[in-house]
Amino acid sequence: MTITVAITGASGVQYGVRLLEALRDLQVETQLIVTKSGQDLMSIETQHSLNYVTSLARQTYEETDLSAPIASGSHISDGMVIIPCSMKTLGSIAHGISSNLVTRAADVCLKERRKLVLVVRETPLSGIHLNNMLKLSQCGAVIMPASPGFYTRPATIGELIDTLVARVLDLMQLDHSLSRRWGD
Ligand SMILES: Cc1cc2nc3c(=O)[nH]c(=O)nc-3n(C[C@H](O)[C@H](O)[C@H](O)COP(=O)(O)O)c2cc1C
Repeated sequence: MTITVAITGASGVQYGVRLLEALRDLQVETQLIVTKSGQDLMSIETQHSLNYVTSLARQTYEETDLSAPIASGSHISDGMVIIPCSMKTLGSIAHGISSNLVTRAADVCLKERRKLVLVVRETPLSGIHLNNMLKLSQCGAVIMPASPGFYTRPATIGELIDTLVARVLDLMQLDHSLSRRWGD
């Protein structure tokens, strides 16, 4: 299995790092893009170096690299997760503006009818944000707000992050034991 993961410049970069760690542990191949703003947020919000984060992925591409394999529909993949997804990236995808590798790879997923999960983060949301989410949901993307549940009573921020990342793994139909399920 091979999944594209993009980390953009919204708050919650930790979700993306944790997803990469979980995918590595599950031996899923990942292709990673971290936007310039994603890198900025990584140093603002986490203690992770970019080197550590890229070491989790099988392959890392620059956001400017529009000739990367994942920019083409002829390159087979099992889908893409943008985690976290900024409103700028959301808006670009919703309007078909494939100006960087994140938005182009997402556009490819939509046109090839592959799974596209957008872990969006902003608060509050404007009508523009909501319209862009509706549009992409109608085009087949999964809009997943970065709002973890509390019903597992997470005791640490790490556990809270895992409750959300676990739901992303569920969406990608990956078997895992990252977080307790309701009823377990
Ligand atoms: C500290 C900080 C937090 C931010 N948080 C968010 C956020 O939660 N959601 C969002 O849409 N943009 C957020 N932004 C703004 C984005 O980083 C900005 O729109 C950027 O252009 C996104 O670029 P990208 O989508 O190419 O990564 C934040 C910026 C900073 C500096």
